[in-house]
Amino acid sequence: MAGNINVLTLIKKYGTPLYVYDLDIIKQQYECLRQAIPKKVTIFYAIKANPNPKICSFLRSLGAGAEIASAGELYIALKSGFQGKDIIYNGPGKTDEEIQYAIENDVHLINVEALDELQRINTWAHTAQRMTKVCLRINPLQAINQAKMQTGGGSQKFGIDEEIIETLIETALDLEWLELVGIHVYIGSQILDHTVLLEQISYTLNIACRLTQHFPLKYLNFGGGLGVPYDDNDPIFDVKAFGIGLTNLINTVSQKYDLSHTQFILEPGRFLVSESGIFLTKIISIKESRGKKYAIIDGGINHAFLPIRMNRHYPTVIANKMGQKNEHMMTLAGPLCTSLDIFTTEVALPPVALNDIISIFNSGAYGFSASMLYFLSAPMPAEIMIQKGQSIVIRRRGRKEDFLLHCDPS
Ligand SMILES: Cc1ncc(COP(=O)(O)O)c(C=O)c1O
Repeated sequence: MAGNINVLTLIKKYGTPLYVYDLDIIKQQYECLRQAIPKKVTIFYAIKANPNPKICSFLRSLGAGAEIASAGELYIALKSGFQGKDIIYNGPGKTDEEIQYAIENDVHLINVEALDELQRINTWAHTAQRMTKVCLRINPLQAINQAKMQTGGGSQKFGIDEEIIETLIETALDLEWLELVGIHVYIGSQILDHTVLLEQISYTLNIACRLTQHFPLKYLNFGGGLGVPYDDNDPIFDVKAFGIGLTNLINTVSQKYDLSHTQFILEPGRFLVSESGIFLTKIISIKESRGKKYAIIDGGINHAFLPIRMNRHYPTVIANKMGQKNEHMMTLAGPLCTSLDIFTTEVALPPVALNDIISIFNSGAYGFSASMLYFLSAPMPAEIMIQKGQSIVIRRRGRKEDFLLHCDPS
């Protein structure tokens, strides 16, 4: 079931491969986080996790802001109803055009990741005659190595190394069109242990306290990274305990430093949308090779790349054989001509047959958005949302003609 709708009826109506997102689950995730964390902490949804405008505008209606990392994402955010004041802009490779576009649209904060970027933002802010608020993204000396995808600690393309941050602060304070208002630290995705995230936040708070002597810290951004369980061995991220821990950390630091005017930020992506999504594909061929059984399905890394690379054991069932015993070990493979295109190696399933519907849960984050959508020129999957018991198409299925968009075939 997706919401109250049997996915087999959705397949009959919309075909495969198909992404289905249940908005009730997104609401549940958002509200559970919102209620757990202090009021002073604002949630900005990292729209890279799932940039479908309907998903973005739904999160906006719940009260989230948007975290974006490209002009394309800024465009989507604006089209989804976010205003500049609701948007923060990250990313280690901002082009001049993107910076200009962000300033023109009055984005709330730009998180700066390099010295040249700081200077370029100042130049464009000057051209636009708009004071622009910036935070410095810091690559911390100490980063807890638990994230599935590490973006902080050691040598990184992300952020500014903690040991040279004071130099950049001096530069930023000298730049006429910039207002330096805070810092940002994001060390990586899919952290399941809330104590690990809290430890990192505590470290960030220590950096922040050291820096308050240089400038008033109006914003303190702790990034995203809250994980979701993908298989039975994964613990569930303890949101309540995380909220209590975060409150305690902020209160403790506030006794020593005046943070009464500081706004705290979290920018989760995966946690908000992952569990809302199911990816539905059909078995189109079955074979055996040297003792291993393969089911080839009609969706592959062109539709769901990152899930495949990060975790080969996404919860997987055959939708039309629920309740049957999972006794047969199968390898699920996509249809593409690359050995990378393997979904799950050795998953226990009921006996498989052609046209069985494989359902891969937990596909709402970094599924569609982090895929190699153009690889092998296979049409893009459709996307459906379930809201108030209704299924609504939020992205039409692609067509083979799409692959000639912007090309002259003659
Ligand atoms: C700067 C930044 N913030 C937030 C996120 C969202 O991370 P997650 O989906 O792990 O919460 C990302 C993801 O890449 C990111 O790069």
